[in-house]
Amino acid sequence: MFISIEGPDGAGKSTQINNIKKFLEDRNIPYILTREPGGTKISEKIRDIILDKENVEMNYVTEALLYAASRAQHVSQVIKPALEEGKVVICDRFIDSSFAYQGYARGLGDTVWDVNRAAVDGCMPDVTFVFNLNPEVGLGRVKTRGEEDRLELEKMAFHRKVYEGYLDLEKKYPDRIVPIDASKSIEDIKKDIYLVLEERICR
Ligand code: TYD
Repeated sequence: MFISIEGPDGAGKSTQINNIKKFLEDRNIPYILTREPGGTKISEKIRDIILDKENVEMNYVTEALLYAASRAQHVSQVIKPALEEGKVVICDRFIDSSFAYQGYARGLGDTVWDVNRAAVDGCMPDVTFVFNLNPEVGLGRVKTRGEEDRLELEKMAFHRKVYEGYLDLEKKYPDRIVPIDASKSIEDIKKDIYLVLEERICR
């Protein structure tokens, strides 16, 4: 079972990743927890290049290729071997981040799939929890729109596209993607997630 967790920063992903870990530990189900971009030595080095604030001139295709390169290493070195050993893999972000950020927000569209096909090599998540949180709520703004500077507005427009990208992905892959309403309480979200895990893992 391959589980990925998606959604914006500040939506409560890490709290629920801990709950998923607890669910598996309580049932003695072996698992690994990993993340993207990263998860291997080489992938972490690629992560540093991608997230380096000095690399402002990075072309969007370069960015998509680097995420895919990091993923190729991660899938072959960590994810596939763990699945073959019968472990559950929990991955904090996976290919849907590329679809949402590079595909929708950067506007690369289907190119994202083209550069990721070889990277995932047939290894797609069985279940993906997408945390939906309206970006305006996410940033917890008290300021009125008029007071925001150009960069803040640009950032907001980008996050809105990411958010809408995820909503679109949920429609496109309804069997795989489980939408999570991140505005609910931590306890209620945990219940929603546990129901899905019980159904899909314990059956
Ligand atoms: P990170 O600090 O791990 O963010 P978070 O805590 O929100 O998970 O940084 C990862 C950033 O990279 C995040 O903004 C999402 C972005 N990203 C992509 O744009 N494409 C991808 O394929 C992946 C995996 C991440």
